[in-house]
Amino acid sequence: MRIVVLVSGTGSNLQAVIDAVKEGTLDIEIAAVGADRPGTYGIERSAAAGIPTFVVDFKAHPDRAAWNDALAEAVAAFEPDLVLSSGFMRIVSADFIDAFGGKYLNTHPALLPSFPGAHGVRDALAYGVKVTGCTVHWADAGVDTGPIIAQEAVAVEDGETEESLHERIKVVERRLLVSTLASLAAEQKAAASPN
Ligand code: GRF
Repeated sequence: MRIVVLVSGTGSNLQAVIDAVKEGTLDIEIAAVGADRPGTYGIERSAAAGIPTFVVDFKAHPDRAAWNDALAEAVAAFEPDLVLSSGFMRIVSADFIDAFGGKYLNTHPALLPSFPGAHGVRDALAYGVKVTGCTVHWADAGVDTGPIIAQEAVAVEDGETEESLHERIKVVERRLLVSTLASLAAEQKAAASPN
């Protein structure tokens, strides 16, 4: 299973995927890593791991549609079976998702459909929930919407800050992401050789 990963930030979830592939516990190929802006650590760490990288700078395009088209073209060049949004802070169009057969995977640091959006951890904490967690799901063109594949709960501790809670969620999120990718790769393998 070939994947292209999209990042906007530090890419620690991506690093977990890179490490699992390197250790031989995850049988996929990271064909490329792309970002929506220059200078991300996610791109830096991918390049350091010898993975092809690209940037389709949102700000360098006249409008969202032009950026979407350019992103679709850049991703398609690597012929992925699946596109992973890993801390990618942009909504892509339905056309983009269709171009990859709907195989657009996202991770979110809350138990969807609760607390979608860019501040899922902060919003859950502000609401006062005692349990939150993370979700891996097939993304559609909405904000953190689409069929859920896997979820895991994380208890909120007394005196927790957004940072401390997000860090603890990310530990679980990385594991869930890697195991979900492993299951999807196994399913693809089985479908390719049913006997
Ligand atoms: C993750 O919690 C992801 O779900 C959210 O942003 C975080 C990305 O972290 N959208 P990193 O860039 O993988 O460290």
